[in-house]
Amino acid sequence: MTAADPYPYYEALVAERPLYRDDGLGMWVASSAAAVTAILEDTRCRVRPTAEPVPRALVGRPTGEIFSRLVRQNDGARHASLKPAVVSRLEAFDIHRVARERARALVEALAPHRDPARLSDFAFRLPAEAVASLLGAPEDLLPSVAQQTGALVGGFAPGATADSIALADSAARHLLDLVRSLPVGGDDHHRTGDASNDPGAMIANVTGVLVQSYDATAGLIGSTLLALARHADLRLAVPAVVLEVVRHDAPVQNTRRFVAEDGRIGGVDMRAGDAILVVLAAANRDPAVNPDPAAFDVTRADARVFTFGVGPHACPGATVATTIAVAGVQALISAGLPLDGLAGTVTYRPSANARIPLFGG
Ligand code: HEM
Repeated sequence: MTAADPYPYYEALVAERPLYRDDGLGMWVASSAAAVTAILEDTRCRVRPTAEPVPRALVGRPTGEIFSRLVRQNDGARHASLKPAVVSRLEAFDIHRVARERARALVEALAPHRDPARLSDFAFRLPAEAVASLLGAPEDLLPSVAQQTGALVGGFAPGATADSIALADSAARHLLDLVRSLPVGGDDHHRTGDASNDPGAMIANVTGVLVQSYDATAGLIGSTLLALARHADLRLAVPAVVLEVVRHDAPVQNTRRFVAEDGRIGGVDMRAGDAILVVLAAANRDPAVNPDPAAFDVTRADARVFTFGVGPHACPGATVATTIAVAGVQALISAGLPLDGLAGTVTYRPSANARIPLFGG
């Protein structure tokens, strides 16, 4: 995902090929609101290929141990038993206060308003530090938690190199130790009600919450700054801008599914083993659900948003993410970040599914 503007392409997909087999990619591609919804709500479409529940390169390693237990990477009974425990922990977060405090502390530590090259550091550290702080991590450990979360995310990325996986393993060990020492990570066995009776499941999933928060929320902060640079009249309406950025310039552009049994899905015949690229960012731009979808309009009523997923795996962290992004952007603006030149310096970090602007390169 490095294209400066993938949206005209997505809009053509929605109009002309809402669900088609792409022989170059070797996958189905779903882009319209109807096709994306049909696939994400179909229990025959799984988050992992049946034959490879954990990516081969991660099997038998600490990174793979976490991966195999994540609510994000499991379906069926295991997913159903873990998700309520993850959701209830996130609902208990006092996110507004902590997000504002961390944002102010990081602005002070990094002074990103004086050098746009430091904005990325700010955008990546803020979500990880805010979430770690909410989980009860002591303040002096927050910078290293953020760094290790970044390393673990690198190991999970499709096509991660052997070096990134080795770094991720070391980060995984540190993060698991830290989570075990927190009140939220202790005695997990009883509190999860986990049908699979896996004592490490909640510890892995608390670590997973850090992972899930990281890239996407950094992307949301960066893309909101860009939107504000382009729409100077909206600088006092940061919360509304964040919500429209979520739809208009989705920080998670796509997700994947893998078909578990032959059948008709989204109106086409699919075979067990088929892979599907589900283009969430295109569905947000489907005129059938969001009229005049290319317009950046913070006053949209009833916008349909696919960025946080749909169906059983929908993101439980949407409010946490938007609250952190609002706090981060407001702290930068209050510190005097000059927004005007930002759009001219932007590039996008290479990633299979996240859209993360980098500034000042
Ligand atoms: C802008 C920021 C974020 C975006 C765009 C985002 C997007 C998503 C999407 C699209 C999924 C579903 C993937 C799929 O169905 O294949 C997901 C799942 C998940 N997200 Fe987020 N997320 C964000 C931030 C967060 C945060 C801050 C947290 C936690 C604090 C979080 C926790 C989770 C978890 C635990 C799942 C797995 C849910 C499941 O599989 O049932 N996310 N997220």
